[in-house]
Amino acid sequence: MGARRLMRDSGQADRVALIPGGARGIGRAVAHALAAQAWHVAVCYRTSAEAGALTLADIERSGGKGDACVCDVSQPEQAEAWVRRIEQRWGRIDALINCVGPYHRVPLLEETPTDWQAMFDNNLHPVFYLSRAVAPGMRERRRGHIINFGMANADQCVGQTQVTAHYIAKIGVLALTRALARELAPHGITVNAISPGFLDSGSSEPHELERMRKRIPAGYIGSVDDAVAVVRFLLSDDARYVNGANVHLSGAWGI
Ligand SMILES: NC(=O)c1ccc[n+]([C@@H]2O[C@H](COP(=O)([O-])OP(=O)(O)OC[C@H]3O[C@@H](n4cnc5c(N)ncnc54)[C@H](OP(=O)(O)O)[C@@H]3O)[C@@H](O)[C@H]2O)c1
Repeated sequence: MGARRLMRDSGQADRVALIPGGARGIGRAVAHALAAQAWHVAVCYRTSAEAGALTLADIERSGGKGDACVCDVSQPEQAEAWVRRIEQRWGRIDALINCVGPYHRVPLLEETPTDWQAMFDNNLHPVFYLSRAVAPGMRERRRGHIINFGMANADQCVGQTQVTAHYIAKIGVLALTRALARELAPHGITVNAISPGFLDSGSSEPHELERMRKRIPAGYIGSVDDAVAVVRFLLSDDARYVNGANVHLSGAWGI
């Protein structure tokens, strides 16, 4: 069984991954890792053109084919157009790995309606827009994977007073992940969530990471490679029966 699975997994050459938010952070590390396994990888961003160009160079250096472009996936028409362009360019999409998930810290009642709305527009809605766009092709091929990033304690529905809209949007991402898994499992597609606690993905200051480290039972901050390892597993044939799961990636923080 092991050898058979390995052979099927090694058939991943030339497979296509779509990574919104993949110019930086976790998405960039995933892009790099998949390219090293000969995947074609498309990333998008809103403003990170320089980071996008570096990621594209990374992908191509690793041996994969790459595509990096501006696409605001909070806009349904842009999200759909991006999916169609990549399908036309490479013929298929095997994996959608939703890495967009900005947050800001603000006391709940000081939040503005505009910023409140933006948290849902960028964290939750793109998962729906993009899943809806990739699903027909995946259904036709009876194969595909969707991976969404949540947040470690979102499944607890705690009273979160500082990053409230982001937190509620992540609760929505978990619920949407399960709904999509039920909907798409009959078509050979898996939909799972990965919920990080604190990973050093390049956007936090060292003093902030040190403050967080003290709250993590494992005693250290995770790295983007920890996320890559889970993504690799969820994309492998070993995970074919893992569907609708939420993998905590937090060194036991937030559980
Ligand atoms: N890192 C952690 O410790 C941690 C903890 C909990 C959860 N997570 C979740 O894990 C995922 C990845 O985290 P990360 O830290 O790697 O992410 P990140 O660096 O904050 O974001 C990745 C990229 O997403 C892009 N982006 C944001 N909104 C976009 C939009 N509407 N359309 C297209 N691109 C957009 C941003 O580029 P532009 O600004 O140029 O668009 C950004 O470079 C996120 O969902 C995050 O919420 C991470």
